[in-house]
Amino acid sequence: MPSPHPAVPDPVVIDTDPGVDDAIALLMALSSPQMDVVGLTTTAGNVPIGPATRNALAILESVGRTDIPVSKGATRPVRGRYAYARQVHSAEGLTHPLPAPATHTTDTGAVPFLSATLRAHPGAVTVIALGPLTNLARLHRDQPSVLPLAKRVLVMGGAVQSPGNVTPHAEFNFYSDPTAARLVVESGIPLTLIDMAPCRQVFLTREDVEGARASTEAGNLAERLLSGWFRQDPTRERFYMYDPLTLVAAADPHAIKFRSVTMTVDDSITTDDSTLWGRCRVLDETEGPISIAEPGGVDVPTSLQLIRELLGWSQPAAI
Ligand code: RIB
Ligand code: CA
Repeated sequence: MPSPHPAVPDPVVIDTDPGVDDAIALLMALSSPQMDVVGLTTTAGNVPIGPATRNALAILESVGRTDIPVSKGATRPVRGRYAYARQVHSAEGLTHPLPAPATHTTDTGAVPFLSATLRAHPGAVTVIALGPLTNLARLHRDQPSVLPLAKRVLVMGGAVQSPGNVTPHAEFNFYSDPTAARLVVESGIPLTLIDMAPCRQVFLTREDVEGARASTEAGNLAERLLSGWFRQDPTRERFYMYDPLTLVAAADPHAIKFRSVTMTVDDSITTDDSTLWGRCRVLDETEGPISIAEPGGVDVPTSLQLIRELLGWSQPAAI
């Protein structure tokens, strides 16, 4: 967003596969005075499309935002099949039980919703993609003039010159649908890409969560989800803020320093070596449409402070 607190919040569509970190990011966006969340589109990824969509509806209901439409998206990738990450996010995708949603998705699917929204408000809508890029790739493949109508596109994904979190080469969202990632990254559309490198620097520990004092419903739900995540496995030490950091990048242009590159993504079309699928390759280190974080370019304290602010979390006074 251009200025810290614009008079009129920016319209935002979030493409999401909730997932615990997606849920934290959504709660941040819903609490931000800078963002007017005009719609969610769902994709399978962390969990299949059914639970992902149910979770999106349930999160909105939990904070009284059933005014926001949810449009159901990708059931399967452009090529291949999703890997899912139930072992990370729990079988149904959230680590704190929410009531089954009473609301329903829109009649249109994710791609028609994205297309209609971007066409209706050319140059005004920020698109934030927090899951596999299947919906965005299908939109761009079928209607190449539409995604360029976005004011800004931010993507959580990729492991650019840094190890992945699924294979040594690949981050989960890009690994889940490498062809979609390649189509979007090669589209020429300016993208802010929050990849593994900055995400490895921004995390919460078990103690951070235990010490959190939430003053909002959104913050309470975030605390419950994170406490549930740490409770699931006593060996867990850090919750990496993949999707929340992408929201920070959307909300605060100074939190991360970026550099511009041109890059591609290996998929089953560019290599038959599946161990390379989802690998990011930089083709030009000096210019291009993809903005990635500079090495050491994340202002970690500022990023964590903004996450806490948007969640309405205060830390107990140091004794
Ligand atoms: O690799 C982390 C990303 O994959 C996050 O968006 C997480 O929610 C999963 O979708
Ligand atoms: Ca996600």
